[in-house]
Amino acid sequence: MRGTSNTVAPEATESKLKEFFVEQLQDILWAEKKLINVLPKLQEAASHDRLKQAFGDHLEETRNHVERLKDVFAIIDEEADAKTCPAISGIAEEGEEIIDETSEGTAQRDVGLIFAGQKAEHYEIATYGGLVSLARTLGYTKAAEILEKTLDEEKNADLLLTEIAENDINYQASTEPQNL
Ligand SMILES: [Fe+2]
Ligand SMILES: [Fe+2]
Repeated sequence: MRGTSNTVAPEATESKLKEFFVEQLQDILWAEKKLINVLPKLQEAASHDRLKQAFGDHLEETRNHVERLKDVFAIIDEEADAKTCPAISGIAEEGEEIIDETSEGTAQRDVGLIFAGQKAEHYEIATYGGLVSLARTLGYTKAAEILEKTLDEEKNADLLLTEIAENDINYQASTEPQNL
């Protein structure tokens, strides 16, 4: 019924909205799996200790995000299929470009890596934010709770990258000569 939150008509389980929800889960599953490949590259390319640590820690969380998504697929009784996510694919390419275009050991490279990392986090935050809302609308309370745990970790990862950039790396990069 319109205006009644957290309730769902039985037929809604086979609605267009449910189909969209599943497609978005497939998209983010692909994105998380891609990030399991990308984060070690960002970690290896980074110089700053805390940045390396942040990418490494988030890699572990990301493995967990994949497991949580599998749990969500099981709850809604759907196959855990992944569907190519062009957005994360593009962000991953940008990350590779940053590594190609910057010199090893520079703070400038770390600045670029943080940009790539934060673009990925923001994509995930947008997707999980929407998924939590849709899970509630569709009556999947448990799935919403699981997705919200991941959403919180994405937000924290983003905040940590901002903090590392602002406390250290951006300033260091501003003092580096242009021809490094
Ligand atoms: Fe994630
Ligand atoms: Fe993430």
